[in-house]
Amino acid sequence: MAIETVGVVGGGLMGSGIAQVAASAGFPTRLREVTAALATQARGRVERSLAIGVGKGKVTPEQRDATLAHLTVGTDIGDAASCDIVIEAVVEDLAIKVALWQEIDRQAPPRTIFASNTSSLTIADMAVASGRPDRVVGLHFFNPVPLMALVEVVRAITTSDASVDAATAFVRRLGKQPIAARDTSGFVVNRLLIPYMLDAIRAVETGVASVSDIDTGMRLGAGHPMGPLTLLDFVGLDTTLRIAEIMYTEFRETRFAPPPLLRQMVTAGLFGRKSGRGFYDYSAEPPRVSAFLSR
Ligand code: 3HC
Repeated sequence: MAIETVGVVGGGLMGSGIAQVAASAGFPTRLREVTAALATQARGRVERSLAIGVGKGKVTPEQRDATLAHLTVGTDIGDAASCDIVIEAVVEDLAIKVALWQEIDRQAPPRTIFASNTSSLTIADMAVASGRPDRVVGLHFFNPVPLMALVEVVRAITTSDASVDAATAFVRRLGKQPIAARDTSGFVVNRLLIPYMLDAIRAVETGVASVSDIDTGMRLGAGHPMGPLTLLDFVGLDTTLRIAEIMYTEFRETRFAPPPLLRQMVTAGLFGRKSGRGFYDYSAEPPRVSAFLSR
């Protein structure tokens, strides 16, 4: 069950990163978006990331050109479905993912492995609905995909050994480090990371320290590359809220419960870097703590 061609469905931050990494590793890669305009944006994301890599001397111009030559971006789901593995990185909504897998199943050859980049939904739900429960795995990548070395390989109770082995070998060929995770909401990393980030918000709510001191504390006191509030802005507050809601619904444990400040910030459109403002205001360089938090 060797994987030679890669389909990626969803060309946002994660999907375009996954497609870039697959194409860089030499796989003919077909990235699918829903409209031509979104497909153009997705290709632009890959091109910008490669340009940064070239600027930093991490990617040669030849590697950039080879990556782009391996990448096809379009709107036909049949192109992605015809590959040996299809990885979905669409919105974190089970109903949307299930409908997508059912559509892909109608067009994909029987050998094709389906992989979800879900960060908090369980794979079994998608596997059972997909029509090929033994060939569905989770492949959870991390943002920014070209820089983060880890991929969680998730086995649902229906997944065959052959599918897990093929997916794990594929992750290694991407140059990433696989870890095996059980099919529980959040897998390994988000099970630990989401409560940590939510606790940082609670620390802000209860006035433990200022936003910048909480971040400095975890950077310099625990050696993290980013403090938790900077990381929240980086991941996206809307994304974090969605993940926390799914994990809280699954486990009913208060450590996963979204704090009120997170809900309020998402309601106000303060999503973090993507909207220009979250815990920090990115209209300034360097970014400064958002004004409402220093009042
Ligand atoms: N292509 C290739 N290489 C690149 C690059 C690019 N586009 N951009 C940067 N690099 C290289 C740099 O040259 C540098 O290499 P070096 O270490 O050999 O010098 C390295 O990557 C780091 O880049 P920078 O120096 O520009 O940036 P930082 O040192 O500030 O690191 C970061 C950036 C990697 C994002 C770091 O801050 C970090 O690790 N942050 C935490 C990210 C994190 O936790 N992500 C996970 C989020 S959770 C998630 O995704 C799960 C989801 O389900 C929520």
